[in-house]
This record gives sequence, structure tokens and C-alpha cells, in this order.
Amino acid sequence: MPIIIYSCCTSLMQNSDTHPKNISEKLSKEIYQDRPQFTMGSLLLSAAVILLLISLFVSTPFVLLLLGALTSVLGAHIEIMRDLFGDGIFAVDGEKWRHQRKLASYEFSTRVLREYSSAVFRDNATKLVAKVSTAAVANRAMDLQDLFMKSALDSIFKVGFGVELNALSGSDEFANRFTKAFDDSNFIVFRRYVDMFWKVKRFFNIGLEAALKRNVKIIDDFIFDLIRCKREQMENEKLVREKEDILSRFLMESKRDPENMNDRYLRDIILNFMIAGKDTSAGTLTWFFYMLHKHPLVQDKVVHEIRDATQAKDNICAEELSRLMTDDVLDRMHYLHAAITETLRLYPAVPTDGKMSVEDDVLPDGVEVKKGEGINYMAYAMGRMTYIWGEDAVEYRPERWLDEDGIFRPESPFKFTAFQGRNLHTGK
Ligand code: HEM
Repeated sequence: MPIIIYSCCTSLMQNSDTHPKNISEKLSKEIYQDRPQFTMGSLLLSAAVILLLISLFVSTPFVLLLLGALTSVLGAHIEIMRDLFGDGIFAVDGEKWRHQRKLASYEFSTRVLREYSSAVFRDNATKLVAKVSTAAVANRAMDLQDLFMKSALDSIFKVGFGVELNALSGSDEFANRFTKAFDDSNFIVFRRYVDMFWKVKRFFNIGLEAALKRNVKIIDDFIFDLIRCKREQMENEKLVREKEDILSRFLMESKRDPENMNDRYLRDIILNFMIAGKDTSAGTLTWFFYMLHKHPLVQDKVVHEIRDATQAKDNICAEELSRLMTDDVLDRMHYLHAAITETLRLYPAVPTDGKMSVEDDVLPDGVEVKKGEGINYMAYAMGRMTYIWGEDAVEYRPERWLDEDGIFRPESPFKFTAFQGRNLHTGK
């Protein structure tokens, strides 16, 4: 199907109930019943869910038409996102989208960036383990999701800009301000979908719209300063070494195309990466640990596999264990891969998403889609459909991803849609 005019990363509603808001809180209150609270913080998305449920009872074309109508309401989404996302990949279309997609696919496949980002994620995971282990030894309750969010932000920030943010430490005044501005602006932008007066509020600069403006300024001031510093640094640098972080790499690229790749465009590209990667990774980790907690046998198997693959001794420290986690060793962890993929099947980080057709088309089941019409697909519901996954669709069973020899067996991206039906997802 000819695709993509808009895309909507609902995982970004990080304050929404789609994510396990606070697992420890939910566990202790025992209100959590093994499924997300499907309020989603958005009437629009709730409407989509209801339509999907209706689809169980009525014909597919009828539901698709309704979904299409709903999607056309979402046509305004670029306007909603622009103040924060600028011209970044989530808010653009056509040539600009293609340019960023190409740039990202190329950059993320380079050895330098892959090795650099692996090292960054490993280092930050080690810091996270140290923090969790201190709290565990002291028998102190902790909000795992909050820790994952901060650790993911630290990693993506470092990969994006090449500098430490230190959000996880919680003691850096600036990092705290940046993290709050980043999270709050995400939340406010997504709240616009259910606030029909957001434009009036923006015009008068009041309420949440005033807060959004303040938050975006904090983010922008910092990023533009960083870009200026990096530019100067690169100009003064005699030694041209291979650049590792995304900003430095894009700055090199901008020398070839200074008019288009200006500071604002660079800000937009990298900020969108951060938005794309932070909540999705942290949310998935939160669900994953929740699943391990609910399924002790799976947990045991994961631990055994890690022991086997790393040959780690008991009482090994976090730094040492992280050193053992090479790409080769990770490649041997088929069960872990299966357990994480199974988590994403049931709790996809982007639970619903939409696409709009750029020309008239016909879907494989015969439904006609006209140019400009949109369709929503719902990875969350698809992960639970018995006709797709079998009678045990709602069960958490990593084994479904393994062949007889225990080797991970990927599914078609049209069946497992957590990465929106693509094999080559940038952050995968
Ligand atoms: C569990 C982890 C993740 C999941 C499940 C996930 C899923 C998705 C989905 C479903 C979309 C499509 C949204 C749309 O445009 O309609 C998307 C887009 C995107 N994601 Fe992720 N993502 C994850 C992590 C990451 C990470 C770590 C990065 C990079 C640091 C990243 C970068 C992107 C980018 C750049 C796009 C926009 C791509 C485009 O429009 O072509 N993602 N992701």
C-alpha cells in the first residue's frame, strides 16, 4: 500500500495509562489485572478501541470506514505536533521524511554508531543495575519505570548529542529541569488531541500552552547551545577522527548541505529520535520486568540463559557482567530475545498507529482505500487475537518464538506489528 502521510507514536503519551504508570504502585494496590488501563489519556484513542471491539461484531469494510473517518480527524496531527517536533521525522511527510529516513537508516547501520550506541547503553545499564542493587540491599521500594525512563533518556541523549545528561543520578539540577521539560512537553502536546481549545490557549499563551512554550524554550536553549559548541569544536579540531554521536555525524553531513541542514533542522531530527526511543524502550523494559515478576519460571530460564551465555560466576559485579555482554554473547540469548519479543507482542510500545494512503488503493481483502483516507491498526489488539496467534494468544509464552532447537524464530512483520510492519526499524 502506498503509504505514509502521518504517523503517530502513541507511546509518547508517557503519562498515559497505556504504559504501566507505576508498576510498584499498581502491584501494591492490587488493582492491576494483567492488562493496561485502556483510558489512554485520549478520547480519540478510546474511540478507536471501541471501534475495534465493534469490528468483532460487524463487517470489516464498515469498521475500516469508521476508522478512516476517525483518522481524518487525526489529519490535524501535524499541526498538533509541530511546536515540539518541528520538522522532525514524526511530523513531516514526503521529501523531508524520506531524507531523514534515509539518513537514519544509513547512520544506524554504520559500524561506528552501532558500536558507540552499544557501549553507551551498556554503561548506562551498569549504572542502573548499581542503583537498583543499592535499593534492593537496603530493602527500599523503587519505581522501576521511572528509573528505566531516566536511564533510557541518558543513553539516547548521549548517543544523540555525545554528552552526559545524568538524569538517572537525580542530583544534577540541569538534567532534572531538562528531563521534566522533555516529559511535560510530550504530555502537553498529546493532550492537545483531546482539548479542542488548545489553539485559543496557545494564542493567549495561557494554561498548559504557556507551560509548553516555557518547556520548549528550555529544550531549545540547551540544544542550540550544544549545536553551536559542537560546530565550534569541529571547526577548531585539527585531527579529523571518526565521529560517534549522531549530532557530530549530522554536523559533518551539514557541511555538504548547509542550507537545508541548518541548526533548527538538526535540533528537530535529533529531538525526534529522543522522543522515538526513550518511552518505547523504557516502557517495554517496564512491562518485561513485570512479566518476569508474574512468570517466575520464565524468569528462571532467562537467568539460566544469561549464566550459560556469559559463563558468569555467582556474585559477579555489574561492571564485570556488562563487560561480558558482547554482541556475540547477546546473539546466543535466544530465550531472552523471545521473552522480550513476547512482551512486545502483548504490550506493544506503540499500541495503535495510523497510516494514510497517498493514492487510491485496494487492501488485500478487497477494501478500497481512497487517496487521503486513513487506516488505524492496533498492535495491542492484534497481539491478543486468537485467529492470529492461536488459542493461547493472551498467554505470555516466550516459547512460541523458538524453534525445536531453541533458536529464535522471527514472525512476519505483518503479524507481529510492534515495529509497525517493518523489518528495518531504525531503533531495533
Ligand atoms: C521497544 C522499542 C521500540 C518500539 C516498539 C518502536 C516502535 C515504533 C513504531 C511502531 C514506530 C512507527 C510510528 C509511526 O511512525 O507510525 C516507530 C517509529 C520510529 N522509531 Fe521506534 N520503536 C522503538 C524504539 C526506538 C528507538 C530506540 C529508536 C531510536 C533511537 C526509535 C526510532 C524510531 C524512529 C526514528 C521512528 C520514525 C520512523 C519513520 O517515521 O520512518 N525507535 N517506532
